Amino acid sequence: MKIIVTKDYAEMSKKAYELIRDVMLAKPNCILGLATGSTPIGLYDNLIAGVKNNEITFKNVKTVNLDEYVNLPRAHKESYFSFMHEKLFNKVDILEENINLPFGAFGDMNKNCDEYNELLGKMRQDIQVLGIGGNGHIGFNEPNTSFKSVTHIVDLTENTRKDNARFFENDVDNVPTQAITMGIQNIMDAKCVIILISGAGKAAAAKAMIEGACDPICPASALQNHKNVIVVIDEAAATLLNKKNLNN
Ligand code: F6R
Repeated sequence: MKIIVTKDYAEMSKKAYELIRDVMLAKPNCILGLATGSTPIGLYDNLIAGVKNNEITFKNVKTVNLDEYVNLPRAHKESYFSFMHEKLFNKVDILEENINLPFGAFGDMNKNCDEYNELLGKMRQDIQVLGIGGNGHIGFNEPNTSFKSVTHIVDLTENTRKDNARFFENDVDNVPTQAITMGIQNIMDAKCVIILISGAGKAAAAKAMIEGACDPICPASALQNHKNVIVVIDEAAATLLNKKNLNN
């Protein structure tokens, strides 16, 4: 793992932007794996600015997202489909047909998972952006998810639902109970993974991911076995890491 420690969230977002920009410049028709949550918002702002400055274009870029809630219409303001459009897609020159997220709005969810999995088989991510949960989850792969998992339905834990209640009028009862997520194997299949970690609340998860056992108890620790992982972490999240592991 390459670990880049940044001063703060803004510098983390800029560094992440530079890494993604370089992939987009080297391969204009690249496949970007994207994430929702608060962590990548600064990266998305930088990507929007990059398009405005004519530094990058999404004209030939295709995207695949990590996850989506089950039984939430795509038009709902808290669906990940809406989130991605609001935070990024509506503000850059991407073609709608090049945007892919798991479909959790309605229908046979097992079939929806299989279809997304098939799609991922044809669309290997050139670079996959990740955030990390306080419990080490990546995507919605909660502790004890098999490292061999592919796209599947998950029951959200009480903790994750509480964490996400801030997006649902602070009422945990409004948070969906299930989601569809890429599995850990789908994430590991990406050619490169960039994981963004910010804030003291993520320090323990960062330590478990980087320095703990490679074990499903910390889903993100699977990345220890990936050949091309870049951790971009701010100082507040890096406080528990051994200094010798910090190679920036
Ligand atoms: C997002 C996702 C989640 C988040 C994680 C961190 O698509 O799959 O794993 O990356 O929950 O969320 P934030 O960034 O809000 O702390």
